Amino acid sequence: MSHRSGRHFLQIPGPTNVPDRVLRAIDMPTMDHRGPEFAELGHEVLDGLKHVFQTQQPVVIYPASGTGAWEAALVNTLSPGDRVLMFETGHFATLWQKMATRLGLAAEFVATDWRRGADPAIAEAKLKEDRAQTIKAVCVVHNETSTGVTSRIGAIRKAIDASGHPALFLVDTISSLASIDYRHDEWGVDVTVAGSQKGLMLPPGLSFNAVSEKARKASQNAKLPRSYWGWEEMLAANKTGYFPYTPATNLLYGLREALRMLREEGLKNVFARHDRHAEATRRAVRAWGLEILCAVPEEYSSSLTAVMTPPGIDADHVRNVILKAFDMSLGTGLGKLAGKIFRVGHLGDFNDLMLMGTLAGVEMGLELAGVPHKKGGVRAAMDYVAAYAGRARTERAAA
Ligand SMILES: Cc1ncc(COP(=O)(O)O)c(C=O)c1O
Repeated sequence: MSHRSGRHFLQIPGPTNVPDRVLRAIDMPTMDHRGPEFAELGHEVLDGLKHVFQTQQPVVIYPASGTGAWEAALVNTLSPGDRVLMFETGHFATLWQKMATRLGLAAEFVATDWRRGADPAIAEAKLKEDRAQTIKAVCVVHNETSTGVTSRIGAIRKAIDASGHPALFLVDTISSLASIDYRHDEWGVDVTVAGSQKGLMLPPGLSFNAVSEKARKASQNAKLPRSYWGWEEMLAANKTGYFPYTPATNLLYGLREALRMLREEGLKNVFARHDRHAEATRRAVRAWGLEILCAVPEEYSSSLTAVMTPPGIDADHVRNVILKAFDMSLGTGLGKLAGKIFRVGHLGDFNDLMLMGTLAGVEMGLELAGVPHKKGGVRAAMDYVAAYAGRARTERAAA
């Protein structure tokens, strides 16, 4: 491959662009993870994470991809043969369900057409039916990265409460944390699973469990075998700022910087930025005359948009044309959506002009790949973003 000048556009829905500040923070000599300096770093990241999860509860950090944190959530809280209620919202929910089955859990999988989120009414009905309370956990993927659909976690919490059922609530926020409003404590989530490589703007390699009191209690009786993933040793060591095994030191430097950046911008502003870019993207898609995969407007994802290509047009061909011509990577269709959609990531370290470059690359790519469409998607997005910036300017002047 010869050198291509300028920055590659990494517009898959994670891993996301790593900001220079984070890259520079990682590019430091590795320190003694048992030395005195380390505890300061450990305390800062462990405390700082609570803000992002909107929790007062402890957050466990694993040197692992998100899949590891999925496993940790299950093996710490459940026993062989336990029933778990899961929702087939897309490819990632399916992988989590397969993992649960492999671990020896009895996963009940509520089907969807992969165009909508987990239905709170179904959760309530299933839990009400379970008079013997044999369902031990409800597992939901907050933002289904394969479809661009965000399930309503607050509404599902209410449904669980309305059923009066004591099941644990486990939620995957791998592509929503630090991009879409998410409240571990307020929504009574018992284990929140997250990863480093999306809204947290880090490279892949760290993953997380935010853990409620109720989940810690459940872990005392949970019988699934666990060793590396066990919470208790980890939480005991974390009290002093250390880890029971070698942590990913340089990624923790990066995490410290990313948490500082999120605080500087303010979580509310981070969420508003993601909402704005998602809305601008949807306006572009509609102007092109293409269809958004998510069928429920109140479940539109703010971190990515999945775009359906017209019947007979291979979405991967469109992606390949865009990669070759404009050096931009878009997300592929996963599982049964292969070839039918492409996914535009608009999460993480991202701004208005990066979005415009992204949408311009898509619009030019549609033309080059021979996809029937109308022009004017970028224009529609520009109008929306410019009007937003205009309103913000007026508000600042008035303040
Ligand atoms: C929602 C969701 N869950 C789980 C995973 C799996 O995480 P990882 O690939 O980091 O193991 C991903 C990966 O993209 C994801 O998007």
